[in-house]
Amino acid sequence: MDLYEYQARDLFEKYGVPVLPGIVADTPEEVRAASEKLGGVTVVKAQVKTGGRGKAGGVKVAKTPDDAEEAAKAILGLDIKGHVVRRVMVAGGANIAREFYFSVLLDRANRSYLSLCSVEGGMEIEQLAVEKPEALARVEVDPLTGIDLAKAKQIAKAGGFPDDLIEKVAPVLVKLYDVYKGEDATLVEVNPLVLTGEGEIIALDGKVSLDANADFRHADHEALEDKSAADPLEAKAKQHDLNYVKLDGQVGIIGNGAGLVMSTLDVVAYAGEKHGGVKPANFLDIGGGASAEVMAAGLDVILNDPQVKSVFVNVFGGITACDAVANGIVGALNTLGAEANKPLVVRLDGNKVDEGRAILNDYNHPLVTLAETMDQGADKAAELASAAAA
Ligand SMILES: Nc1ncnc2c1ncn2[C@@H]1O[C@H](COP(=O)(O)OP(=O)(O)O)[C@@H](O)[C@H]1O
Ligand SMILES: [Mg+2]
Repeated sequence: MDLYEYQARDLFEKYGVPVLPGIVADTPEEVRAASEKLGGVTVVKAQVKTGGRGKAGGVKVAKTPDDAEEAAKAILGLDIKGHVVRRVMVAGGANIAREFYFSVLLDRANRSYLSLCSVEGGMEIEQLAVEKPEALARVEVDPLTGIDLAKAKQIAKAGGFPDDLIEKVAPVLVKLYDVYKGEDATLVEVNPLVLTGEGEIIALDGKVSLDANADFRHADHEALEDKSAADPLEAKAKQHDLNYVKLDGQVGIIGNGAGLVMSTLDVVAYAGEKHGGVKPANFLDIGGGASAEVMAAGLDVILNDPQVKSVFVNVFGGITACDAVANGIVGALNTLGAEANKPLVVRLDGNKVDEGRAILNDYNHPLVTLAETMDQGADKAAELASAAAA
């Protein structure tokens, strides 16, 4: 889970990382009040889970509460890379002398942690990596020892910091690692980490990703989740413990087992090229026990996606045999009644395939087509989606 900047700021503060005061606000009036409360120069910052807010007009300096209110009017509602701004943070204004870059992240490929650091911060890190790769240090961090003061100094030195700044910045890097470790994060990034005119080091922007696998250790993490921003269908799927990912296409996919579902996506995408470029609409793995309830929940989620024009159910009967799956589909269609209103292509194979197909043939639902093979099923589903979209 990625956090908003204000949430990252709060975590930083909890661990003693130097940050400026910040107050979240959802309306221009609240922004004015926050700016009055903070006093002096403030910065109004869009709270969206994407970078490059500054360049997109989502970060504005305000000298007075009037300015802050005006800034809020400009920023609230702004679309930044597809993210509409609903909330801003009013932050204290920093007197920036220099901008640096620091991050620590999970390095999956090397089964280790990695720290990136540069005395040249401020610009987007991707840009820095391309334009000035020599200015960006990559230092491996041993998960068993982490970043202590000595390691922090090594990282800062590699990042090109001069000696006097190394002494100042190293203790802050240690605290940022404390956040990373203490919160079970997969990323803690500060861009920019700044030196102020007063000689202080401050984290001005923060990006934190938390590892959902460690949620059981962090009862407080659930509250950080932005339920309003979550896709309602994904939330519904989660309620039913379904493994669902929404995609952009038109052919809904249901399968059992992640491997089969992934190859189904490929086959549908391939077949879709022949049928006007239709694509898979989602990934949905209903798992081993493809019962009527699970099938109904899965179909319910997929049919409620307005982009879906046809559904391809591709199930390989194993411990849960094809007859049980077929009964699941029948039960699901009965449960959904008139809500099931899009063509369904079903391909069954494996344990008790003949029994399963017989059940669906007898049921003889006008929207259901049986396919012999996965390729045929994908082709039919793509054709139906393309016809419905036309
Ligand atoms: N509190 C602040 N005080 C002064 N300047 C700021 C403050 N916050 C951000 N800035 C300036 O705005 C730039 C962009 O802000 P940042 O928070 O990094 O957003 P993003 O990375 O999404 O563009 C920073 O590099 C910094 O120069
Ligand atoms: Mg930034």
